[in-house]
Amino acid sequence: MTEASLFQQINDYANRANPYPLYAELRKTPVLREPDGSYLVSSYRLITALLHDPRLSSDVRKRSPEDPKAKTALANPYPVPFLRLDPPDHDRLRRMVSRQFGPPHTPDMIDNMKGELVQIVNGLIDGFEGKTRIDIVDDFAYPFPVTVICKLLGVPQEDEARFHVWAEAIVASLDPQPKASGHDGPMNVQEALKEIGQYMSELIDARRKQPGEDMLSRLINDDGPEGQLTPMDLVTTSVLLLIAGHETTVNLLTNGVLTLLRYPDVLERLRKEPELAVSLVEELLRYEPPVQFNSQRTAIADITVDGVTIPKGSPVYLMLAAGSRDPERFPDPERFVPDREDNQHLGFGSGIHYCFGAPLARLEVQIALNILFGRVINPRLVLDPPPYRQNAVLRGPRHLPIDIDGVKT
Ligand code: HEM
Repeated sequence: MTEASLFQQINDYANRANPYPLYAELRKTPVLREPDGSYLVSSYRLITALLHDPRLSSDVRKRSPEDPKAKTALANPYPVPFLRLDPPDHDRLRRMVSRQFGPPHTPDMIDNMKGELVQIVNGLIDGFEGKTRIDIVDDFAYPFPVTVICKLLGVPQEDEARFHVWAEAIVASLDPQPKASGHDGPMNVQEALKEIGQYMSELIDARRKQPGEDMLSRLINDDGPEGQLTPMDLVTTSVLLLIAGHETTVNLLTNGVLTLLRYPDVLERLRKEPELAVSLVEELLRYEPPVQFNSQRTAIADITVDGVTIPKGSPVYLMLAAGSRDPERFPDPERFVPDREDNQHLGFGSGIHYCFGAPLARLEVQIALNILFGRVINPRLVLDPPPYRQNAVLRGPRHLPIDIDGVKT
């Protein structure tokens, strides 16, 4: 039997709880060719350079038509979301959507949500009363960002059970080896894309007839300098925002709770200095990033980096989590330093696809960690490591049971 490649080991569910020693191994060959012809890039310097290189495309349809990811993308009847597009279409759509998501057109949008975020978090923690064991994922870190993105977009929260199944299937399709753990996969991604697309079109029709204060209504009616979004682009963009708006934040928040319970001295410090949450969340994004690598990039020309030529057409994996622990960029990178200075991590990517929701995600997690640890009494980890989600790309615990002695009102 041939030995598993480093990438196969990273994708192996058995290594999900701690992939970081594998990333350290990977960085010894910063541009590594896998037996299947794809390339892994793992140093901070090269990842950053490639995230700014127009020869590296985010559009898998530019791969050969036999490539499985290209096939799926080509068969999808809806247009590709801007996350998966290159300029000029990416830039145009991102500009149009950004008008409703912050400066300069809606400068106070995120800041104005603070009161509501605090209220949602407190409501969830009120629900812990009378319990001695809670699951941070199911009881807190998942419902919080879902509620927020539903309110923001104007998606009825009572539909969560429906869109959760579709979101899971779409997110699973990012995983290079979705069935590596032997678990049954969720529903087929094509079916999920179709169903969530139909669901969103119906919602958009309803908002068109009866607009509300939500982002969906504003996107439908916005008539900016570049005109209106087409009905198809509206569907694709709102699906992107709905999924990207919670599938990553749940992991950052859960990783935050886990890390703080592993570092009680840091937790004590946070309780005394709530303003520490700002730099602490940045360090979490570096140390335990919810997006471990970009799995959809393709070289659209021969690209030579550090003496290695990545041939045109090759899939390229940018190993963000490896780059964020690169000792050539960060001193003492394997240590969690909540007030680390010069912390330009790759947790939100870099370049033209830099996370669109970063200001919201940061605020959500800063608020949630402060309120949670200000209110729960004597929280203790039940399992360390906890069970992880299958996904190697969007990595995070599936459950995080903790014991508590009660909650402060
Ligand atoms: C902790 C939470 C989050 C993390 C770690 C995260 C991470 C990322 C990363 C790494 C990218 C770059 C992907 C690439 O280069 O291909 C990205 C892009 C994106 N994110 Fe996030 N994200 C988070 C939360 C959010 C939220 C709350 C939203 C929406 C409200 C959002 C919407 C997006 C969108 C639309 C893009 C595509 C941007 C583009 O292509 O121009 N994200 N995110």
